[in-house]
Amino acid sequence: MQKIISLCKRRGFVFPSSEIYGGFSSCYDFGPLGVEMKNNIKKAWWEEMIRNHENIVGLDAAILMSPKVWQASGHLTAGFADLLVECKSCHKRFRLDEIANPKSEIRNPKCPECGGQLTEPRKFNLMMKTLVGPVEEEAATTYLRAETCQGIFMNYENVLNSMRLKIPFGIAQIGKSFRNEITTKNFVFRIREFEQMEMEWFCHPKEAEKYFDYWKKERLNWYLNLGIKKDNLRLREVPKEERPHYAKETVDIEYKFPFGWGELEAINNRGDFDLSNHSKNSGKDLRYVDEQTKERYFPYIIETSGGIDRSFLAILCDAHQEIKGGRTKTTKAVKEIEVLLKLDKKIAPIKVAILPLVKNKPELVKKAREVYQLLKPHFVCQYDELGSIGRRYRRMDEVGTITSVTCDFQTLEDNAVTLRDRDSMKQIRVEISTLKDTIQKILEGEEFLKLGKPIK
Ligand code: GAP
Repeated sequence: MQKIISLCKRRGFVFPSSEIYGGFSSCYDFGPLGVEMKNNIKKAWWEEMIRNHENIVGLDAAILMSPKVWQASGHLTAGFADLLVECKSCHKRFRLDEIANPKSEIRNPKCPECGGQLTEPRKFNLMMKTLVGPVEEEAATTYLRAETCQGIFMNYENVLNSMRLKIPFGIAQIGKSFRNEITTKNFVFRIREFEQMEMEWFCHPKEAEKYFDYWKKERLNWYLNLGIKKDNLRLREVPKEERPHYAKETVDIEYKFPFGWGELEAINNRGDFDLSNHSKNSGKDLRYVDEQTKERYFPYIIETSGGIDRSFLAILCDAHQEIKGGRTKTTKAVKEIEVLLKLDKKIAPIKVAILPLVKNKPELVKKAREVYQLLKPHFVCQYDELGSIGRRYRRMDEVGTITSVTCDFQTLEDNAVTLRDRDSMKQIRVEISTLKDTIQKILEGEEFLKLGKPIK
């Protein structure tokens, strides 16, 4: 895990928040490569949900909502609290379920840090409070949302009516959520400010089981299609005592992180918990009326709730490879450990590197800059002229850049460049006039060696 964390910092994926002030507990900033990669994950999810499925529409609801929402949703009461224990000696705090088996009776576990005695467990609510209004004394207390889906439930009727939808249908949303987690660890796995990608599928109660099964498979396939290895993914049926307060049934999609299996996404059958509670508390009847049968009922909700930060971490861990002695056999090269980030083409933050063979030949640099200007409007590109060409290829492999374009002396004569494939390190020669289309085809998955003249 340490290797991933240091790669993220060194190469501009993730930085600790407020670092010059010593950091800010469990908050992270996504750097130039991190934000590109995160945006690619979000785009892949949005396209999957909105474009590849029928009857799913998008939403972007406000983070701040009436505190009544959180009262009705059960988040201010027992439902959304962790059991907290504190060490009487070193005063470190822990979530009880992290140090004791949640299924067993509380058995006075010892402090995992110093072996000291722990306090009796007490409930700790995870909602983050904030004040809304200019005068502090008169300001209303509300909460930063702890799950994006409550914004979807608030807009269920608006969306249904404005889009003239019929059940079954889905509403998808991506956005920030906040939880005052007791223990935060494992880098961006458990943080206090994170992003969720949630889809709420409204269906007839009799069809809930069928759709629960359907979404479970669909979501697992989404991760597989992003190139995550099958052996590192699993579905886990969550037993009743571990389920969230709103769920009738939960299956987690888990990834085998370097620190163990951890939840990437929850698939929940929320039943009619949300719409019936919001109806009761707001006085607004949120039941659906079937125009044909005239049946009036609360739709059941099947939820797919993934975390972008966790997907980001899982994808990085899965793609990260260390090659002892390096991959290059033709040159003496480094012979130390080489890093290859084998990211999916959709997810890689940089698609194309543009490299002049040497930096001390102005004509070559000029040509390479022209190629960079040509490609930059179409792909995320990086221009790099520092260091030997081998070293620059390795720098690109380390951040998962899909292809590198090298301008050499021959380019000045034949207006063609060398393209190198990240994974096979194979090279082809391509004319600059067809370069943009060729790169497009590479990104669409066409066979690399067939797209130009192979170089032996
Ligand atoms: N609306 C349902 C819901 O929020 P959840 O299982 O509490 O369900 C869903 O959260 C997903 O959100 C998790 O699978 C995880 O990917 C992400 N998530 C939750 N808490 C997180 C945290 N503290 N840090 C990072 N991601 C988190």
